[in-house]
Amino acid sequence: MRSEDMHQPIRLQDYAPPAYLVDETHLCVQIFDDHALVEARLVMRPNPALDKHGALILNAGDEVTLEHIEVDGAAVADPVREGESLILPAISASHFEVRSRVRLLPDQNTRLEGLYRSGGMYCTQCEAEGFRQITPYPDRPDVLSVFTTRVEAPSEYDCLLSNGNPVGMGPLENNRHFAEWHDPFPKPSYLFALVAGVLDCTEDSFTTASGKSVDLKLYTEPHNRHKTRFALEALKRAMRWDEQVYGREYDLDLFMIVAVDHFNMGAMENKGLNIFNSACVLADESSTTDGGFELIEAIVAHEYFHNWSGNRVTCRDWFQLSLKEGFTVFRDSEFTADMHARAVKRMDDVTLLRTQQFAEDAGPMAHPIRPDSYIEINNFYTLTVYEKGAEVVRMLHTLLGAEAFRRGSDLYFERFDGQAVTVEDFVACMAEVSGIDLTQFRRWYEQAGTPRVDVTSEYDVAAQTLTLHFAQSCPATPGQPDKAPFHIPVKLGLLGRQSRLPLSFTTEHSGFDAANQVFSLRAEEDSLVLSDVTEPAVPSLLRDFSAPVVCDYPYSGEDLKLLVIADDNSFNRWSAMQTLATRTLVALVQQAAGEADELRQTLLSATSAVLADGLLDPAVKARILQLPAQAYIAEQYSPVDPLQLDQVHTELRTWLACELAAEWQQVLSATRADEPYRFEHRQAGRRALHLCALAATVLADDSGWQAARELFERADNMTEQQGALRLWSQVANTEWDTAMEQFWQRWKSDAQVVEQWLGICAQRPGMTVAGVNQLMQHEAFSWDNPNRVRSVIGAFVMRNPRGFHAADGSGYRFLADAILKLDGMNPQIAARLCTPFTQWRRYVPAVQAAMQAELERILAPDGLSDGVYEIVSKTLQ
Ligand code: ARG
Ligand code: ZN
Repeated sequence: MRSEDMHQPIRLQDYAPPAYLVDETHLCVQIFDDHALVEARLVMRPNPALDKHGALILNAGDEVTLEHIEVDGAAVADPVREGESLILPAISASHFEVRSRVRLLPDQNTRLEGLYRSGGMYCTQCEAEGFRQITPYPDRPDVLSVFTTRVEAPSEYDCLLSNGNPVGMGPLENNRHFAEWHDPFPKPSYLFALVAGVLDCTEDSFTTASGKSVDLKLYTEPHNRHKTRFALEALKRAMRWDEQVYGREYDLDLFMIVAVDHFNMGAMENKGLNIFNSACVLADESSTTDGGFELIEAIVAHEYFHNWSGNRVTCRDWFQLSLKEGFTVFRDSEFTADMHARAVKRMDDVTLLRTQQFAEDAGPMAHPIRPDSYIEINNFYTLTVYEKGAEVVRMLHTLLGAEAFRRGSDLYFERFDGQAVTVEDFVACMAEVSGIDLTQFRRWYEQAGTPRVDVTSEYDVAAQTLTLHFAQSCPATPGQPDKAPFHIPVKLGLLGRQSRLPLSFTTEHSGFDAANQVFSLRAEEDSLVLSDVTEPAVPSLLRDFSAPVVCDYPYSGEDLKLLVIADDNSFNRWSAMQTLATRTLVALVQQAAGEADELRQTLLSATSAVLADGLLDPAVKARILQLPAQAYIAEQYSPVDPLQLDQVHTELRTWLACELAAEWQQVLSATRADEPYRFEHRQAGRRALHLCALAATVLADDSGWQAARELFERADNMTEQQGALRLWSQVANTEWDTAMEQFWQRWKSDAQVVEQWLGICAQRPGMTVAGVNQLMQHEAFSWDNPNRVRSVIGAFVMRNPRGFHAADGSGYRFLADAILKLDGMNPQIAARLCTPFTQWRRYVPAVQAAMQAELERILAPDGLSDGVYEIVSKTLQ
């Protein structure tokens, strides 16, 4: 068979409702030393919404060895198995029971999907299509069923967990025992979970707004028991926030979280039994960085919020993934904004979007937030579906306002509770409560690509009017050559060029929402006439990043500097500095000498002004002072020579560090820790700024690294210790090696810190493929632990440009080898690692050729997974 025929796409347009429904699912999972047996009893019926039912098709993956299957007591002798489908004859009875027994080998399940072993425990991962690796089942999200689960295992596995409430437990013969669980809420199979292990439990409780008490339990392996408090506190904050902001209460008497070391992604929202990657839940004050705490709090909240946005109301099919993910990311992002600092959270989210999602949307894997087709659904858990999806929900929030948006979400949860629905259902609720016509808005779900908004202006002194001309466009993406105009909310303000103060204005335009200063751009071109503008003004556009677009305006360097210094929207101060720095870097890369020099001087004086600003929140200041990442600059021009870009980027940072050495020194001493470590916004901001100043110090002179060593030795916290080690790594010297060894000895029994340590090694400037290969011999590395693979291979190929793009092509060969090796073990992880290759066409010819050769080599062997095949074949198209 040709490989195109082996890897068939699934299309949204082919969606058909399920022929049969499952009212009740009764599972008995028996775990033995070297295998597991799963018996299922499914109480089923034909879907009453359909006239014709046809064959009964269950999904059964290749981890599953079928031992027996029967329908209403009659064994099916030779069921047809085609790929992942198990085909049984059509059934006309109004109700019937399917019973099956299968054998699994969890110890040999290296893809970490279905039932597998992680260290000393057994656990499951079912989203998106892992449940079929546990038992034959209509494994699709629009089949909702009530689950009862019995787990049997050797008595040493003292914790036997599943969804819902415990309903029974007791001893069995042969030193075994069982537990039984019942989940009263009908759910799709992807939300099923089971855990068996020797686990420690930290308990807490939460009283809901209506007075119900909920037990909270966080399970870990015993040696991690000291790292559970933070996540439990975060969970309670999230539960309270969801009550206050969305009116959503928790619905079971018990909420459990389990931390597992081997996990393909961050975490999973299984009903009542969330399973987390240890790295995304375990924390304590000595071993966790500020960034780590914030991430953990956000992920705990994210998974908790899914209980409503995802579980109570779920997705009809996987094309609707953004229905639950985009909405839930929006919810967790607002939660973080409320817990800490709104503008800072916005800067961090937008940085992620601009550096990674924009690239995805401009590359060969570009897809709408609701894709039309996929070969491997796991490839669509993307920044587009998640982060751009969240931006689309945010735009709805902006257009409707908080109050109407809340009425829309109330309606959505109420109307669709217990159902599997589509993005249209969600948007329709928002339209219904607000009366706003969202027909055009729906294009955000259908069209891929990052729209551009080009703005120009003219000022009429006599009339005191400023006219803004808007033109929108969107580049072609695979399968979508032409785009229809989007409905784009542009939040804006004006800054007086002379007064340097915010200016008020009026306008007659019906698309302008004066209360929120938001202009709804709907046409391809439109003009907004602003009156009563008393002086020439610099427009501050796309405030708070009110839409996921590229917004361009012909600012002069001085305009941008004015926005950096004086804009009353702090997000846009940051954004203006990003624009100024981006322009400078692009001019330097393109060797536009005169322009580059002028921009560089403006950037220097803007930087100096920011450094001197005593009123700025240190967290904001640290972000304004951070140059945009190379990945973002690489999106602005083509062809890209990645080594030249790295050099120009480093030179600019070094130049700014040297020119302003005295100012940076002052910041460095003013931000020294003077109190014991605590994770809180003010302290974290101070540390971020301190590390910024330290970075400049290390760059500015040859002995600067001694300040990093001094911080490493003095710091009482992981943020500064690791920050110091990272910065100091730029001057690889024997003292650094010693410090790294010392750090390893101190932390080698802490898995989360070890993963960070590996990352610092892999990202070290000067690291080569030979060096990474050596690092992979270290006892801390292991191919079967995704976190370790990400910390070493992922960090090297995504965050070490000099190493990965080495001129001899060794980095590309290394990555292709790793992808091929991993594809046989864990195809999800292998597919994720393909990302750096997807940008190959943007590079200079020599890089293109070398990457293309490796892409072709990956595609050659037979038996490639759908995941890797899909990304690599689309990349080469
Ligand atoms: N639903 C999970 C979350 O967003 C992620 C599941 C990812 N699954 C996958 N197959 N990649 O929290
Ligand atoms: Zn999610």
